[in-house]
Amino acid sequence: MRRAVADGAAKRLSGIIMRTLNLAALAALCVVVSACSKDGGSSGEAPASAPADAPAAAAAPTDAEKAAALAALPAPYNTGDLSNGQSKFAFCRSCHTATEGGPDLTGPNLYGVFGRKAGSKAGYAYSDAVKNAGFTWDAEHLDKWLSSPREFLPGTKMTFAGLHDPKDRVDLIAYLKVETGYKPPAK
Ligand code: HEC
Repeated sequence: MRRAVADGAAKRLSGIIMRTLNLAALAALCVVVSACSKDGGSSGEAPASAPADAPAAAAAPTDAEKAAALAALPAPYNTGDLSNGQSKFAFCRSCHTATEGGPDLTGPNLYGVFGRKAGSKAGYAYSDAVKNAGFTWDAEHLDKWLSSPREFLPGTKMTFAGLHDPKDRVDLIAYLKVETGYKPPAK
């Protein structure tokens, strides 16, 4: 009967936080630790956010706002997988911040990049290739850029080989739109 109690507790706990935690991992943890049944319902208010996705910026959007922002994106980005996008952003993180007011690293801060003219962030020293690119960043340009920066803009100093899976690019672009303050055109 302990088993049934543990299962029930695990289910309830999972139901509450499944949106932000991996359900399978949690269930596995409960089984391994087997302490879930002892705590009963009192541990129902487990922390609701995974540590990985809680940017510290004061105006950081909530998960609900992010979901709404995602849904408002044009296809195919509205079906983007934000968690895959976030994990693909790991490739960018060594050179870019994406938070509002974040520092330039090797590459420029990416907050507000959608709708910004390429190579135009004040205070960052771009290559001529990017500075003179002559377009404004949107999903289509970013898709080509991320596929192969040096083929798309020869002479760029962004030394990133490219993200070759188109679906990964969709997910990453959706993630960037949601994270960098992109606003869909007013209805
Ligand atoms: C090794 C460092 C490095 C990595 C990794 C990297 N970048 Fe860059 N990025 C740069 C540099 C440097 C520039 C400036 C390029 C230039 O001026 O030629 C740049 C420029 C850009 C720009 C143009 C910004 C503007 O203001 O015009 C975008 C967009 C961008 N990177 C996105 C990304 C994304 C998304 C990733 C991850 C998939 C990524 N970068 C990975 C270094 C990097």
